[in-house]
Amino acid sequence: MERERTFVMIKPDGIQRGLAGKIISRIERKGLKLVALKMMRMDKALAEKHYAVHHGKPFYDRLINFITSGPVIASIWEGDNVAAIVRKLVGATSPDTAEPGSIRGDFVISTTLNTIHASDSKESAAFEINLFFKEEEIQDYSLCLEPWFYYSA
Ligand code: CMP
Repeated sequence: MERERTFVMIKPDGIQRGLAGKIISRIERKGLKLVALKMMRMDKALAEKHYAVHHGKPFYDRLINFITSGPVIASIWEGDNVAAIVRKLVGATSPDTAEPGSIRGDFVISTTLNTIHASDSKESAAFEINLFFKEEEIQDYSLCLEPWFYYSA
């Protein structure tokens, strides 16, 4: 059964601070399935497409400079209602409202160096997945523990 997909990116500060493993682990332990993963350096053109909705905002140039400043890890996760669930795991954008226990709530103190990006809806997930991955880079496999994450009587 194909479940919903979402896009997650560990940002350059997350890589430099050695948080990649911890972040991936937090998403895995929720019961979500990793179906694509790659480390890459975003160029300006890709960054501008990815953050096109923020074009013209006061923080836009800072955002583009930061996201292209070092390697990122791009990934795709599958699960029921996955975009909303991952956003909850990630926490709010503003460091003073990100809930303790969320990734940003536990690891982030800056609005720019905020360690992780996750799609904010099914629609943006589809756009971002298509921007970063080719279909053949996405793995189709079953997770043997899935019956222990989803009830199916
Ligand atoms: P992200 O989830 O990657 O999506 C857009 C990014 O813009 C966001 O994380 C922040 O890094 C950045 N951003 C959003 N709002 C602000 C803001 N008010 N000031 C600085 N950066 C912001």
